[in-house]
This record gives sequence, C-alpha cells and structure tokens, in this order.
Amino acid sequence: MQAKSSSPRVNASLNKLNISPGYFRGLGFLPEDLDALKALIRAKWLARLESVRPDMLEVFRATPTERYHEICELVDHASVWNKDSRLFSKEEVQKIQSMSLFKALEDALGPFEVADIEGLGHPEIYWRIVRPGQAGDVSGAHADTWFYQYTNNMTEAQQTGLIKVWIAVNVEPGMSGLAVMDDSHLKDWPNHAEVRHGRPKPVLDVDPADLDLVCVDTAPGEAIVFNIRLLHAGIPHTGAESRISMEFAIRLLG
Ligand SMILES: [Fe+2]
Repeated sequence: MQAKSSSPRVNASLNKLNISPGYFRGLGFLPEDLDALKALIRAKWLARLESVRPDMLEVFRATPTERYHEICELVDHASVWNKDSRLFSKEEVQKIQSMSLFKALEDALGPFEVADIEGLGHPEIYWRIVRPGQAGDVSGAHADTWFYQYTNNMTEAQQTGLIKVWIAVNVEPGMSGLAVMDDSHLKDWPNHAEVRHGRPKPVLDVDPADLDLVCVDTAPGEAIVFNIRLLHAGIPHTGAESRISMEFAIRLLG
C-alpha cells in the first residue's frame, strides 16, 4: 500500500489517486505557457546538439524540434540525450513553476513542492524526446515507485505524499503519448532490478502483451496526474513527429 500521511488534507488528495483508475487528466498549460515551455526545450535541445556537433549548428537551427528524427543520425542519440542533458536548471525550473499548470495543480491537490528525487539541490523537472518508430526510445511498463526504490534508494516512508505528473508537450493525440493501465496501482506486480546505464533500474516480470495498456489521447499541454504505483509506459509510435513530453514528481505538503 502507498504510505499514509498524517495530514487529512494530504490523505484526501492522495485518495483521489488511490481510487480507480489511478490517474486523472484535464489540467494543463495555457497556450501561451505551452509556447514558452516549448521555447525553453528548444533552447536546451539546440544547445546540447551544438555542444556535440558545432559544425552542424545551421542544420539544427533550420530543423523544428519535432522533426529531430530527420537529422538524428548526426549525433549519437542515446548518449546525447542522457537524463542529465534533459534536466531543467534551477532557473528554468523557477520559470516553469510560475506557469499556469502549477496553480491548477495546487487548486486540485492542495500545497505541494516539486520533488528533488535525484538530489540535484533544486526541484527536478525534465523532458524527453521519442522518435517515431524507435522502440528503444521508450521505457518498458513500470511503476515509478520502483525507480524511487531501486534507482534512488528511497524507502516507502520517503515516498510518502509523492504523486507523478506527466505532460504532453508535442504529441499527436491518440498516436503518441503515455500509455497507462487502469487500476494497476491496486495490485502488486512482480519486478526486479537490472543495471542499465550504470544504475539499477526496474524491470516488470510480466509479458507486456498481457497488460491492458491504453494510450491516453492527451492534447499538447495536457497533464496526466498519476499514482506512483500505476503501471505506465511510453509506447513506440508511428506518428510523423518526434514526441516531446515533460515530467516531474510532486510531494504533497500537509
Ligand atoms: Fe515512469
């Protein structure tokens, strides 16, 4: 079971996600904030690509971020887009936290802080890019609590009050987005840890074909707020554009 908090208000908010289906949607960034967020990601995308291929800067500048898959062979995708390169800086996080989604989250859930899961020294928010037709760009089905346990060595008590937020930044609704399995947070799923990219990461010990994962047809800017025990996965997509998303964990404050 998810660890209990002593605060009635926190428990009430957690209970929204403890019941079926384990997530809710409907919150999101206003269009002007989504544009500002896209510009932040674009700047980080360009800076990172320029750092590894300064000779190709003009090509990168001429390529929309969502067309990245058309020029991705110019770089080593896996190493260029490690997690460190996708983390927002403290200043960028402050800018993002002033945007409309965060007020909407507080209205829905009460006071919270954006969690610093990796021990960065500031709230952790990061983005992700998934190319069309690249199964290796997405993670297998998992619950985020397993990452907190295996990768971040967090006890159940340390995970108290944590909720995950995933945001569609550039998606083709119904084609590329996050897949979730309704009510999966109500069950314990067999899993184990494996070392990948130098760190222990969870692996689900169930055939993905036996899971009822459904792609949520989020619109650009829309958030999915979910229980950290909910099974979810990025699904390989066949859209025309690279999918861009953003995510973070929040910790409810009593
Ligand atoms: Fe996840």
